[in-house]
Amino acid sequence: MYDLIKPWLFKLSAEQAHELSLDALSALSRLGLSHWVNRGIPEIPTQVMGLQFKNPIGLAAGLDKNADYLTALGQLGFGFIEVGTVTPKPQTGNPKPRLFRIPEHQCIINRMGFNNKGVDHMVRQLNKRRYSGVLGVNIGKNRDTSNEEALNDYLLCMERLYALADYLCINLSSPNTPGLRSLQKGDAFTHILDGLKSRQQQLKDQQGKYTPLVVKLSPDLSEDELQWIAEQLIRYEWDAVIATNTSTGRDGIHQHRLAAETGGLSGAPLFDKAQQTTQVLKRALADKMPIIGVGGILSGHQAAARAQAGADLIQLYSGLVFKGPKLLNEIADALISTHVQRSKRSDSETANTRKEFA
Ligand code: FNR
Repeated sequence: MYDLIKPWLFKLSAEQAHELSLDALSALSRLGLSHWVNRGIPEIPTQVMGLQFKNPIGLAAGLDKNADYLTALGQLGFGFIEVGTVTPKPQTGNPKPRLFRIPEHQCIINRMGFNNKGVDHMVRQLNKRRYSGVLGVNIGKNRDTSNEEALNDYLLCMERLYALADYLCINLSSPNTPGLRSLQKGDAFTHILDGLKSRQQQLKDQQGKYTPLVVKLSPDLSEDELQWIAEQLIRYEWDAVIATNTSTGRDGIHQHRLAAETGGLSGAPLFDKAQQTTQVLKRALADKMPIIGVGGILSGHQAAARAQAGADLIQLYSGLVFKGPKLLNEIADALISTHVQRSKRSDSETANTRKEFA
């Protein structure tokens, strides 16, 4: 079905195509026709952060910024959906055009700039939630909030959304809010980790519910920076890390006319950077914290490679744009078959070890 409509969608501007696809999906959902686009994803029960997922394949933040399409997106079969980024006040984002598809390289450049309807709208949407899978909410700061005041924006969103989300993701890595990424460094970072962790403890005591806290990182951090970040995440007892957001680099697309557009690069050319970030974090975290792997996953093979590199869960954005919902089936099949192969290998290794000791 997606293969049939994709040529038409790709004739529209990227942002028009985005809105049209979501409206069409929503219409199908209301008409009870979601099975037209979802062929049924096999169950792959997965437990991460104390939450139970029906499969480890999630929708990355940014596609449904306001939780306006949650029910319809849920019917595509995702094991989890992350909505947002939401900020305390509504904001319009950057002027258009701000979203560019590059089909030859299967990638996107975006400088949306946290366009969203604000946290009050998000709360209203989540209060009428019908989607029953795991729900993450990605939170950010308003563009006109200084970095010194950023913690207050994250605290405000956290307090409003704590009871409604299954996990909360703190976005410190969008390249489209000036200065945001520097919050991943030094005292600014530990101040935010510490402040939010303390409030999580208070909210847990008040509400009797533990909502895990996750941070989303940039793919443009050095190995030393990642090592230091991992140490702080362990020290402040964070619950998980998402690797990665979009890149300001233009690896693999330098020659393209759109490469000069300002914004974050996602899709196929991001795969290697996101993969390396996952590998470094896996080593630095030494299994003390789960990793949610996102960036450049456009095939089942790539999803299996990300899981192999250390990702406990997978998220998609650009892959969905270029491949459509059938990518979920391909990934589920690949994850199941690599799991079966790994279990067979470990069974035969155990048998060999037994033979050695016999
Ligand atoms: C994004 N992404 C994103 N991430 C985030 O944390 N908050 C956001 O609001 C957005 N918005 C957004 C808009 C658009 C148009 C794109 C393409 C991406 C980043 C996204 O969640 C993901 O981390 C990256 O796109 C990398 O994954 P893919 O696209 O290579 O699978």
